[in-house]
Amino acid sequence: MYSPEKFVQETIQNLKETIKGKAIIGASGGVDSTVAAVLCSRAIGDQLVAVYVDTGYMRKGEGEEIKKALTGLGLDLRYIEAAREFSDALKGIVDPEEKRKIIGHKFIEIFEREAKKERAEYLIQGTIAPDWIESGGGLRDTIKSHHNVGGLPKKMDLKLVEPLRDLYKDEIREIAEYLNIPSAQRQPFPGPGLAIRIMGEATPGRTEIIREACAIVEGEIEKSSIERPWQYFAVLLPIKSVGVHGDVRAYGYTIVVRAVESLDAMTAQYSRIPHEVLERISLRITNTMGDKVNRVVYDITNKPPGTIEWE
Ligand code: XMP
Repeated sequence: MYSPEKFVQETIQNLKETIKGKAIIGASGGVDSTVAAVLCSRAIGDQLVAVYVDTGYMRKGEGEEIKKALTGLGLDLRYIEAAREFSDALKGIVDPEEKRKIIGHKFIEIFEREAKKERAEYLIQGTIAPDWIESGGGLRDTIKSHHNVGGLPKKMDLKLVEPLRDLYKDEIREIAEYLNIPSAQRQPFPGPGLAIRIMGEATPGRTEIIREACAIVEGEIEKSSIERPWQYFAVLLPIKSVGVHGDVRAYGYTIVVRAVESLDAMTAQYSRIPHEVLERISLRITNTMGDKVNRVVYDITNKPPGTIEWE
């Protein structure tokens, strides 16, 4: 029977047998890749190098937090500043699948570059079951190309190892707790980051707005006395509407607040967040960025038919 303890023991054993040489792992700081990194580092020790790519589409303060967390777990970390590279690659791109694929390819390009420097032969990824199922591996249609699946080239020099492929988020969290990984209860954050929370072109200006809006949604929900939803964030719509800021006409973007309850991300219900909390979020967003955002709306769509993220 499955248990976190048994899974951990068997996986470490398998990794020891599979990996014959140096390996790199793309570590995002999220629970999936952190679990994969810790298992791998227990299997092959200093043969593993963790690569964190700062895409510029990370949440407020995230880079520093992740640096601390990953080195705190004893991982040998390379921190790659790649914001410019990503924003250049996404210039003019509006289609969600195209965005995801470009981001995925960029990640792989960077991993391959780093692997060469480190002389690594293996690429470890923290792919979990919904990532590949929804990327076309199990459903009739590709729902979205999850970056860690959609970006992989057909022919790659690195040998791919995905120790968590068959697991779902709730199981990963159990394993993370068993391994004493502090990010076990962190809310999920997609690999392509804030780029897929901006509908349309992810310009640097819009990225700053969504970063601030996501921080406000997280901050207000965490400060309130309500039970934390499974996932909660903001989405930027490139749709402008007329408003009034001070006594001046404003013409700004729309921010959507999204919060859901889920177990394994395959289905989700929108969270019944009290209006008082929603109002505080709305006030803070429009007070902080009133010249750029003058409307805040709440998404009341379940999955299906909506997905959790908007792209
Ligand atoms: P959707 O939007 O497909 O999201 O309902 C399901 C869960 O997966 C997260 N998500 C991703 N995670 N790479 C990831 O590692 C991705 O490309 C990706 N896209 C979505 C999403 O935040 C939600 O928790």
